Amino acid sequence: MSKLNFALIGCGRIAPKHVDALTSGAVSGARLVAVCDDKFERAKVIAEKHEGVAAFSDRFEMMEKMGSDIDVVVILTPSGLHAQHAIDMAKYRKHVVVEKPMALTLQDADRMIAACDAAGVRLFVVKQNRYNHPVKKLRQAMEAGRFGKLVLGTVRVRWCRTQKYYDQDSWRGTWAYDGGVFANQASHHVDLLQWMMGDVESVFAKTSTSLVNIETEDTGVVIVRFKNGALGVIEATTATRPKDLEGSLSILGEKGTVEIGGFAVNEMKTWNFSEPLPDDGEVVEKYRVAPPNVYGFGHTEYLNKVVESIREGRAALVDGLEGRKSLELISAIYESVETGKEVSLRFVPKMCRLGVIRDIEV
Ligand SMILES: NC(=O)c1ccc[n+]([C@@H]2O[C@H](COP(=O)([O-])OP(=O)(O)OC[C@H]3O[C@@H](n4cnc5c(N)ncnc54)[C@H](O)[C@@H]3O)[C@@H](O)[C@H]2O)c1
Repeated sequence: MSKLNFALIGCGRIAPKHVDALTSGAVSGARLVAVCDDKFERAKVIAEKHEGVAAFSDRFEMMEKMGSDIDVVVILTPSGLHAQHAIDMAKYRKHVVVEKPMALTLQDADRMIAACDAAGVRLFVVKQNRYNHPVKKLRQAMEAGRFGKLVLGTVRVRWCRTQKYYDQDSWRGTWAYDGGVFANQASHHVDLLQWMMGDVESVFAKTSTSLVNIETEDTGVVIVRFKNGALGVIEATTATRPKDLEGSLSILGEKGTVEIGGFAVNEMKTWNFSEPLPDDGEVVEKYRVAPPNVYGFGHTEYLNKVVESIREGRAALVDGLEGRKSLELISAIYESVETGKEVSLRFVPKMCRLGVIRDIEV
């Protein structure tokens, strides 16, 4: 079967994860054919390293010159630009993979979903942590109903991002292009909490900007009430010093407790069930692998599933609607911060400062 040809827009910090997955043979059904960055040098470096990859500084030029050879475009630009770039690529009738968060406003997310639907192409949102081995194991237990009634779900992100990190690019830590720790670093953990615990009824949040000079927050806490009656806590900070400490998830139910820790939700710490299964005793030992960095191992599996999903017409684990759910939750968190009140979902953002409504040609 012929391979799907991939192109990337944005060749910054996260790009190597995608480039490695697409050029190493790890995603066997895919081939990287083009990369684009308006800082052309960044695209050129990748193209020079990998035979058969062309470099561009402009996405429209890339599509005019190579559009007929491209099947899937991966959007790796600053978060506030995702919507425009995804909609542009949908118009060329290319499948779109977009890094998290899919957009910064619900309006943009809706426009992306509508544009991909209208063009008859697929939209995938990267949430690679869903493929972490301990996370998959937990999800199986959840789907098998092993927890019984859910009681409490907690996520903690205690990472270290100094002023130097925020100063490296002008979009970081801004409301228009990034958001704070909830929209950026903790968006994976917010997604995991909701995926495990189910739909959210309401949130009440407080934030602070403690150790860096940015527009948005570096620290925040959220009390969550889920529709099923369970409670949740989200604790997120990039003000952990002097280094990353943890990215963790705990689920407590009437019949079991699971804790996944490590610095990137990668180590099974606790696996206790009142109705045990034969392999339960090995789970803690078996499901703990330290990844090389906080991005984890999941991108390769994520992209493999994208290829499988396009080829076989299968549902994506995280399509536009699924990606929108965690954006809605994050928008509600910011709405609560601004209003000082508990915010019930569904809701229409009024005071949430995340993102700006831009004119996008749809
Ligand atoms: N899944 C993850 O774990 C993960 C990790 C890091 C970043 N991300 C997401 O990936 C996105 C990019 O983050 P990053 O850290 O790589 O940022 P970055 O600033 O390092 O890279 C973004 C790149 O996009 C380029 N760019 C900007 N506008 C462009 C345009 N119009 N055309 C072409 N290129 C353009 C910039 O020049 C830059 O090289 C963000 O949305 C971020 O949230 C996801």
